[in-house]
Amino acid sequence: MRRLFPVTDQTASGADREWTLDELAEAYAYPASARRDDAGGTGEVAGTGAGGAAGTGGTEIGDVAGGRGAAAPAGGCRAAWLRANMVASLDGAAHHEGRSEPLSSAADMRIFGMLRGLADAIVVGAETVRREGYRPARAREALAARRKAAGQGPAPVIAVVTASLDLDFSLPLFTAPLVPTIVLTGAAALPERVRAAEKAGAEVIVAGDGPGVEPGRAVRALADRGLVRLLTEGGPRLLGQFVAAGVLDELCLTMSPTLTSGYAQRIAGGPALAVPERFALAALLEEDGFLFTRYRRV
Ligand SMILES: NC(=O)c1ccc[n+]([C@@H]2O[C@H](COP(=O)([O-])OP(=O)(O)OC[C@H]3O[C@@H](n4cnc5c(N)ncnc54)[C@H](OP(=O)(O)O)[C@@H]3O)[C@@H](O)[C@H]2O)c1
Repeated sequence: MRRLFPVTDQTASGADREWTLDELAEAYAYPASARRDDAGGTGEVAGTGAGGAAGTGGTEIGDVAGGRGAAAPAGGCRAAWLRANMVASLDGAAHHEGRSEPLSSAADMRIFGMLRGLADAIVVGAETVRREGYRPARAREALAARRKAAGQGPAPVIAVVTASLDLDFSLPLFTAPLVPTIVLTGAAALPERVRAAEKAGAEVIVAGDGPGVEPGRAVRALADRGLVRLLTEGGPRLLGQFVAAGVLDELCLTMSPTLTSGYAQRIAGGPALAVPERFALAALLEEDGFLFTRYRRV
C-alpha cells in the first residue's frame, strides 16, 4: 500500500508495502472532537416513549462550535462523527448482482475491518443486512489495546435501520453478538416485530415519529448512548438520507478498478440535494490499482 496524499517523504520513495492494521488505524483515526463524555442516554427505547424526539431540546447536528457533525444534546456535550465506508466501480456501481464483494479486494477488506475496529457503532440499512448476510462485528486482537485506550468495548455495536423490522431475528447478528445489536426504527413500527427483535436480544430505539427513522435523530440517539464514533456501511438508500440530512462528516470511498456497466445503484441514492455538497480530500492510499480515498465535509 502506498500513500499518495498527503504527500510525505514516503510518497516520493514510492514505498509500497503492506501496512499493519495499527498503521492503518492511525491513518484513519477519528478526529479528537468525536469524544465520549458521559454515556447514558436520553433517546427512547421502543415501548417506553411517546414518540418525542430523542435528545429533544438538543442542538441539531452541525450547530455546535468546533465542527459540523457535532451533536450536543441537552445535558451534556457528546460529539458524534459519522463516517461512511463504501466501494464503487469506476463507472459508479455500488454493487454487482446485489453484492459489493465483486468490487472489493483484500486491501479493501482490511480497511473495511479496520474501520469497523475504530467505530463505536456501525449503522447499516436493513436491505444491506438482508442481502449481504450481516453477522455480528468481531473483536480484533490487533486493535484491542487501541479500543481499550479509547474507552471502547472489544467490538462495535451494529445498528440496523429499518421501518419494517422484516429481519430474521434468529440470525447470530441478533442472537449472538458481542454487544447487543441495536434496531433503529420509527414510532409506527409494528409492536409484534419490536417484540420479536427484543426477544432475540436486540435493543430497539425509536428515532422517528412515523414508520421511518429520521437520520439526524438516529445519530443523536446513538450519541446519547455514548456511541459517537459512527461508521455507516450504507447501503445507498440509507447513505443518501444521511447526505440529504447533512449529517455525514466523512466519506471513505474505495475506487475499485473495475467497470461493470449495468444499472446498479450509486453509493448514495434518493432525492438530489439542491446544491452539491463539497467535500475535501483528506487522504489517498493506493494498492493494486484500488484507490482508498478519504473525504471530509468542508
Ligand atoms: N458499495 C458499497 O460499499 C455498498 C455498501 C452497502 C451496501 N451495498 C449494496 O447496496 C445494496 C443495498 O442497498 P439499498 O440502498 O438497497 O438498501 P439499504 O440502504 O441497505 O437499506 C434500505 C432499507 O433500510 C431501511 N431504511 C432505510 N432508510 C430508512 C429510514 N429512514 N427509516 C427506516 N428504515 C430505513 C429500510 O428497511 P426496511 O425495508 O426493513 O424497512 C430500507 O428498505 C446491496 O446490493 C448491497 O450489496 C453496497
